[in-house]
Amino acid sequence: MKTEVFQITDPAAQRDQVCAAAEILRGGGLVGIPTETVYGLGANGLNESAVRAIFEAKGRPQDNPLILHVGGADWLERFCRDIPAAAYTLAERFWPGPLTMILKRRENVPNVTTGGLDTVGMRCPDHPVTLAIIEAAGVPIAAPSGNLSGRPSPTCARHMIEDMEGHIDGIVDGGACGVGVESTIIDLTVAPPRLLRPGGLPLEELQAVLGEIAVDKAALEPLAEGEKPRAPGMKYRHYAPKSPVTVVTGESEKTAAYIRERAGARTGVICFEEYRELFDGCVVESIGPARDKAEQARRIFDALRAFDETDVAAIYAQCPNDEGLGLAIANRLKKAAGFQIVELKEENE
Ligand code: TXA
Ligand code: MG
Repeated sequence: MKTEVFQITDPAAQRDQVCAAAEILRGGGLVGIPTETVYGLGANGLNESAVRAIFEAKGRPQDNPLILHVGGADWLERFCRDIPAAAYTLAERFWPGPLTMILKRRENVPNVTTGGLDTVGMRCPDHPVTLAIIEAAGVPIAAPSGNLSGRPSPTCARHMIEDMEGHIDGIVDGGACGVGVESTIIDLTVAPPRLLRPGGLPLEELQAVLGEIAVDKAALEPLAEGEKPRAPGMKYRHYAPKSPVTVVTGESEKTAAYIRERAGARTGVICFEEYRELFDGCVVESIGPARDKAEQARRIFDALRAFDETDVAAIYAQCPNDEGLGLAIANRLKKAAGFQIVELKEENE
């Protein structure tokens, strides 16, 4: 299959390109789409065979539901029922943006899209190109992250091409993703609302609006044998480079020193910019200044991918703390490490 690449920088001026991508989706095809979080692998979310093709192209287990990308809160009634007022409050405040809300679904959403669940994830992405495509298609776009199952999520068109060229109809290049980690997922069908996946919208911002939020265990730690997360996707190994990853948590001076002691020429190191020179001679991926979590979020998946082009035997990663976007970045790193974590405790603890 030939994969057509569309370069769209200005959706209003490139209306023909937007419509061409929308037409593929309406016709049941698969298109890689840019969002502010990561690139998605999109299909018409109401078309069962198109949705099945997403699972095939990614090699994704069928029980892992997809989220629907829509044009705004006014789309919710079409696909969801018993919508709590909080959904509209959150949409008003954070949409378009990196927030997925789990709501009760209507019958018109196919089982294959929701993995047989009676709920559906809804998100309005903050990307002008994809919003224009959704509007032109007139259907909700089901889209998981556009990576092959198990690989780091794509944060630019090049990553999408790496994983999907030849397997899908089109890829829309809308530039690099501004957020870089996937959306935050909140389940609004339970009380109190429950965080299922930390993501591009910090938990603190949701707490400021909703008050108490329960945090699903799978969002923070590895699951015990047989335990079931509420977001089915959280149980799978994810984001993993080919070489084993060890995440080191704690104060950044200390984590840098710990890694330095163990690093050699065939060691991959994910570090904060301040420590880059400490690792001369290793294969280094800086993810940005220690204090700049927005930059770390933008760079984390590209860093994880980069090691697969090298022959490193092991990878060590400095890990930000859990505040703000740190919770999502740390979660992605820990999942990439299969929860192989070294915790360097503070001295006064
Ligand atoms: O930022 C994002 O959310 C990106 C972009 C493309 O929008 N999409 C994304 O989709 O990350 P995906 O499929 O890679 O991750 C969605 C997660 C999975 O862990 C899935 O199990 C969970 O959401 N999920 C989807 N529908 C659900 C539902 N009804 N109940 C619980 N979890 C759900
Ligand atoms: Mg994914």
